Amino acid sequence: MARHLVTSALPYINGVKHLGNLVGSLLPADVYARYLRERGHEVLFICATDEHGTPAELAAREADLPVPEYCRRQHEAQKAVYDGFRLTFDHFGRSSSTANRELTQHFAHRMAANGYLAERVVKQVYSPADGRFLPDRYVVGTCPHCGYEAARGDQCENCTRLLDPTELINPRSAVSGSTDLEIRDSHHLFFEQSKLAPRLREWITSRERWPVLTTSIALKWLDEGLEDRGVTRDLSWGVPVDRDGFEGKVFYVWFDAPIEYIGATREWAELEPGRDWESWWYDAGDMRYTQFMAKDNIPFHTIWFPGMQMATGEPWKLADYIKGVNWLTYYGGKFSTSRKHGVFTDAALEILPSDTWRYFLVANMPESDDVSFTWELLAAQCNKDLADTLGNLVNRVLAFGAKRFGTAVPEGGEPGEAEHELGARIAALVAEYEQHLEQMQFRKAAHALRSLWAEANAYLGIKLPWTAVKTDPADAALAVRTAMNLIALFGPLSRPLIPDTAARIDAIFDTGEGDTPAPWPTAEQARALDALRPGTPFTVPPVLFRKITPEDVAEWRERFGAQD
Ligand code: MF3
Ligand code: ZN
Repeated sequence: MARHLVTSALPYINGVKHLGNLVGSLLPADVYARYLRERGHEVLFICATDEHGTPAELAAREADLPVPEYCRRQHEAQKAVYDGFRLTFDHFGRSSSTANRELTQHFAHRMAANGYLAERVVKQVYSPADGRFLPDRYVVGTCPHCGYEAARGDQCENCTRLLDPTELINPRSAVSGSTDLEIRDSHHLFFEQSKLAPRLREWITSRERWPVLTTSIALKWLDEGLEDRGVTRDLSWGVPVDRDGFEGKVFYVWFDAPIEYIGATREWAELEPGRDWESWWYDAGDMRYTQFMAKDNIPFHTIWFPGMQMATGEPWKLADYIKGVNWLTYYGGKFSTSRKHGVFTDAALEILPSDTWRYFLVANMPESDDVSFTWELLAAQCNKDLADTLGNLVNRVLAFGAKRFGTAVPEGGEPGEAEHELGARIAALVAEYEQHLEQMQFRKAAHALRSLWAEANAYLGIKLPWTAVKTDPADAALAVRTAMNLIALFGPLSRPLIPDTAARIDAIFDTGEGDTPAPWPTAEQARALDALRPGTPFTVPPVLFRKITPEDVAEWRERFGAQD
């Protein structure tokens, strides 16, 4: 048994996230954390909202709320959705916490003391009417390339060209509309990450069995050469820079956000006496740290944050494994939070149970390539795998058993060849399933789980207890007993993917263990299929999954704007 730290990329605060965010980091991290706990490991699963930066300021302004109040509300809103999806964070923190402020300032001091932060002067747009420097995207004007009148200073939304705010024609402040803008000098701290390039390359190339997606993105950045990046901003919302001459400035959001992995661990530790955060982060060689994220986050986790950690000269724990995920698209197009296109996680929970989403998203996780979400695919797969293969099996076996043999596991005959062969296949599939989860190959894991459910159906297809009961009741009872044992195994095995359904399966058999969930089966138990004693009382549960109808699909296509 080992200690495992698991983190999911921190969802940004500006509104409830779409399914792409869930499938890209939060859900795989949860499935993995759940699996590790099932196998008896000590797990700390950490996440938080990423709350600083310009987009948060803009979203708060749009909502007509002070930024701290906006963030507080949005944090609660996101937390409620993640509870709804049964994400089992040990702590869901906030990057605006005191713990993170202290750690961020500490990082900056250490990095500066070691010669990795340098002061430089940059030219920036200043708005006297607003009394502040304007970040590039706060300056709007006419695009010099296409004439679009509402182009932002960082990029023209119309022609997508990257811009410098000084290129805009008729520039004005996005905050107040003022056209009285000046160019002023402003001094900032720059992270000289190029100094760390050799160390980062050596670290990345010496990692074992990292996914190609992760390593190739990291090496591409190193090959192109690392540029020094500014880590401070002229904003008021953020972690204040505690350095002489930096009054009124804050750290760049991408500087304090990854530090919040540590910050949230400290927030968690501060909630109860006896918890310690240092042993998870500082000199933590005896612990395995796994990070989950979508591919756009990979450079920040393979180069930027480890570089910051190294630059402190302190023994901060680096990630042992980085799982990156490609994009989930919506009918081939981009899910977009800002353009409100696609399915948002709160709306998703309004229309289907969380397990249906969890199963579908794990089974279609964009691991090796982008994957296109469609309602048609969701309906087809969930009806087949969840409603038929698993749900119908459970109801058919229990209803038939109750009717023919009463509401206790029947005795039946001795296991024969069919049962021995079945046991061997089940044991092999369980081993395969465990290996895929161990290696975070989630699509393959879902496939193995589905194969386990399908084995039960195939077995019943051969034994046909519904007809055999007339000619050979002992053999029919054996088939029912064996199928019930399979169902009992599906409780723990399904738990990492579909925890609510797993709990309902656990509740079927009254094994005298009270509410203690059935433990993960050993290989021997998976092979023997005899853990349930004859005579164990059971109940027939209501239908586990309702079918998704063509009318549902039509309604959702309409509501969520499917276009093909
Ligand atoms: N909020 C970022 C995003 O949505 C992710 C931050 S991950 C962290 O892309 F490491 F910086 F925390
Ligand atoms: Zn343009």
